[in-house]
Amino acid sequence: MCGIFAYASYLVEKVWHDRKCICETLCNGLSRLEYRGYDSAGIGIDGDKPDETFLFKEVGKVAGLRKRIAESTLDTSKTFVSQVSIAHTRWATHGVPSIVNCHPLRSDPSAEFTLVHNGIVTNCAELRQVLQKRGYNFESETDTEAVAILTKYIYDSQPDKRLSFTDLVKTVLTELEGSFAFVFKSIHYPNELVTARRGSPLLIGVKTEKKLKVDFVDVEFSGDPSEAKPDLLSSATTGRLLAPPSNSHIYRSQSRAFMSEDGLPQPIEFFVASDASAIVEHTKRVLYLEDDDIAHIAAGELHIHRLRRRDDGSQSPSQAAATRSIETLEIEIAEIMKGKFDHFMQKEIYEQPESVINTMRGRVNFDDHKITLGGLRQYLHIIRRGRRIVFIACGTSYHSCIATRAIFEELTEIPISVELASDFLDRKTPIFRDDVCVFLSQSGETADTILSLRYCLERGALCIGVVNTVGSTISRETHCGVHINAGPEIGVASTKAYTSQYIVLLMMAIQLSEDRISLQERRKQIIDGLHALPGQIKKVLALDKLLQQLATTQLVSSRSLLILGRGLQYATCLEGALKIKEISYMHSEGILAGELKHGPLALIDENMPVIIIMTRDSLYPKVKNAFAQITARKAQPIIICNEGDTSIPDGATTIRVPETVDALQGILNIIPLQLLSYHLAVKNGFDVDFPRNLAKSVTTE
Ligand code: F6R
Repeated sequence: MCGIFAYASYLVEKVWHDRKCICETLCNGLSRLEYRGYDSAGIGIDGDKPDETFLFKEVGKVAGLRKRIAESTLDTSKTFVSQVSIAHTRWATHGVPSIVNCHPLRSDPSAEFTLVHNGIVTNCAELRQVLQKRGYNFESETDTEAVAILTKYIYDSQPDKRLSFTDLVKTVLTELEGSFAFVFKSIHYPNELVTARRGSPLLIGVKTEKKLKVDFVDVEFSGDPSEAKPDLLSSATTGRLLAPPSNSHIYRSQSRAFMSEDGLPQPIEFFVASDASAIVEHTKRVLYLEDDDIAHIAAGELHIHRLRRRDDGSQSPSQAAATRSIETLEIEIAEIMKGKFDHFMQKEIYEQPESVINTMRGRVNFDDHKITLGGLRQYLHIIRRGRRIVFIACGTSYHSCIATRAIFEELTEIPISVELASDFLDRKTPIFRDDVCVFLSQSGETADTILSLRYCLERGALCIGVVNTVGSTISRETHCGVHINAGPEIGVASTKAYTSQYIVLLMMAIQLSEDRISLQERRKQIIDGLHALPGQIKKVLALDKLLQQLATTQLVSSRSLLILGRGLQYATCLEGALKIKEISYMHSEGILAGELKHGPLALIDENMPVIIIMTRDSLYPKVKNAFAQITARKAQPIIICNEGDTSIPDGATTIRVPETVDALQGILNIIPLQLLSYHLAVKNGFDVDFPRNLAKSVTTE
């Protein structure tokens, strides 16, 4: 949900680069982040004179922005020894996609302050009202512009203009409510960037030839948080601004420099981004910012400051560690390229034979039929003693919980509830110290899931993360967890993350039940099934041509599609329907076959396209009843069934998948639906990787 990229370079004499290269770096960074939001894109770069910032913006994809820059009169040969620049790809929350609403937003026509933002400032209406009363003009409908203007207001109001850039931004941030990741640039602070986060992810890559002295940030506080807030806008509703703060009001925290080991000047570059995919092509050395971190990049150094403690004065688990360490990215550049595929989604569907192996690697012993998830080992006794396990997630991640709940209950005999994160929060669901809460998220940055996590942490529950993105907020704030190791997922429609989450949840259940002798055979059956799974996925992928044909001949012109199944396949129906609606924009509904008679049957006639999942498991006879009920109403369903199932009526349209143990069948059954949705979207000419109105990482509520 919005991608932020910023670039600061401090080179030395004779090691400079030109503006063309800077624009290229920014646009490449944005292209990598485009899956997070793609309704407009923009950059802010140093101008021809020291007191100038040039902005370029375009509605639509980054390709349009590149064209706009190329067609402008910008002198691309101008060289810089040091420079700072910011860039953004937007997913609209406040204001329609348009040039004026596109980031970077500026404080005024001469762009004294420019900034890029991910998140939502919830008190922007009050800020806007107060600033307008002070005579400031707004040109956009965005919440971000209020922050840019507020920055200028505070800067203008200080009598001696001695606030450092960091302190200025700290003062601004103290006035904001909501969630954010920001990067600020200003003509008053040349060659400096200030970046900060609360609720939206940010990381900083550091590229230099020299060895770095890893001298880190100290998060001790030297002031009382209650004195920190300058209360600049406390009378916002009356539109009366109090006096701007003096330097002494600013809440200080300690920070130390991050510099080369020998302390000598050296070429050094910093890359700030919403996620690692925009950084990995430059450097693998990164530092993840935590909520309420403010990073200041200037003169080839990086300093990190703290804005505040949490409201209750406690420290979040991630804050308990008083240092930020430099981490090494484990992703490879090839993993974030499309390679021979037309779309990321297609590539990710095809990666599944391998991604499921990566999920199991080092964790499953197929000879001894044992599963060890190292991240949970120390917590097994607490989980087993827990009163219940609550799975909390959104969208596809939620479906993976539904898919595995029955097996989890069967193996662990612990009551399981599955919660949609937004609803879990809306209901203020009771959570207790002896609850075990599991948070599933591909990105690890979904706002509703993160807020649910913090809610459960506050209530003392054991919190476990199941995430794909290493270093993400959920992976850092949970007590323990498991990475699904599916590799970067860039297509907005989640595919390989679903199958890997599914496997991780099954592995958790198997590990938790390892001391239950009576279930030994069942565990063995599932582990043997896991062994055969990658080969079986390949067989399903070989159905691609058939699925393309079905999509283009039978389904492409349909307005609606129902997907029917029950038991373990109910989740497959929900997930298949979600895939179809999100990328092909066709209405689609996953229906529990057991509920057919309670309403949905009224939709069935010869014109209603239906897919029914009839793979063999204990509920097969009941699904056959549902099949009889819909065919009696003249429906001609497409049947997902097992290879060699001879009880399927002649002449029926079938998608035949290999048979596996019931617990794993949902993994094989979802793949045809992923491929069908893909082909429906392609056939309709829709942008598969960038479905309208959606973004990969939903970092706002
Ligand atoms: C659907 C999809 C979304 C996500 C949901 C949660 O294809 O991608 O429904 O599953 O937004 O995202 P994560 O898993 O990142 O928390």
